Amino acid sequence: MAIAGLGGGARHNGPMSFEPVAFLDMFTRSAKADAYAQLAAMTHSLLAGERDRVANLAQFSALVWSAVPELNWAGFYLVDATRVRELVVGPFQGKPACVRIPFDKGVCGACARNEEVQLVEDVHAFPGHIACDAASRSELVLPVLVQGRLLAVFDLDSPRPSRFDAADAEGLRLALKVLVEGTDWAS
Ligand code: SME
Repeated sequence: MAIAGLGGGARHNGPMSFEPVAFLDMFTRSAKADAYAQLAAMTHSLLAGERDRVANLAQFSALVWSAVPELNWAGFYLVDATRVRELVVGPFQGKPACVRIPFDKGVCGACARNEEVQLVEDVHAFPGHIACDAASRSELVLPVLVQGRLLAVFDLDSPRPSRFDAADAEGLRLALKVLVEGTDWAS
C-alpha cells in the first residue's frame, strides 16, 4: 500500500527521510474513515524500526498535528508514577500547555479517572474544563492503555465547536493501537 506523505511506506527513521505530511480529507463521513485508515498506516510506517517511548510519542503527535485538520493542540499527558493520580504533560504539538493535571480535574483527568474516551462538543459546557488555550472549543481525549494499565491519555483540541465525533474517536483509537504495539513503554 502506498502511503501518502511518507515515501510510499518506506522506513522513515533514517537521516534525510522526512517528507511533509499533508492534511487528510475528513470532510465527509466516508472520506474520514479512509483518512483514519491511512493515518494508522502512516503511523506504522513512521515508527518502523524505532521503539523508544519519547521518540515515538513525539513523532505520533507531530504526525497527527500535520495530518488531522482543524486542531490547535495534539499530544500526550503521561501518568506520573511518582505522584498520586496525576498526569504530566508529554510530547505534544501546539502552544505550551498546563503541565500537571490531577485525575479529578479537566477533560484529561476525566479520561484518566474513567479510562474512557471523552468527546466534548463544547468545552465551555464541560464542568471543570481546563482552558490551556482560549481558542479551544471542542476536545477529544483517549486513554492509552498498555497491557490493561493506563499509562497516558492522548488529547486533541480544536478551535471549531463539535469538531470531533465517534468516527474520530475510533480512527484515533486504531492509530494509537499501532503506536502502543510499536513502542517500549518501560523507558
Ligand atoms: N483541556 C484539557 C487540558 C489540556 S489542554 O487542552 C492541552 C482538560 O480540560 O483537561
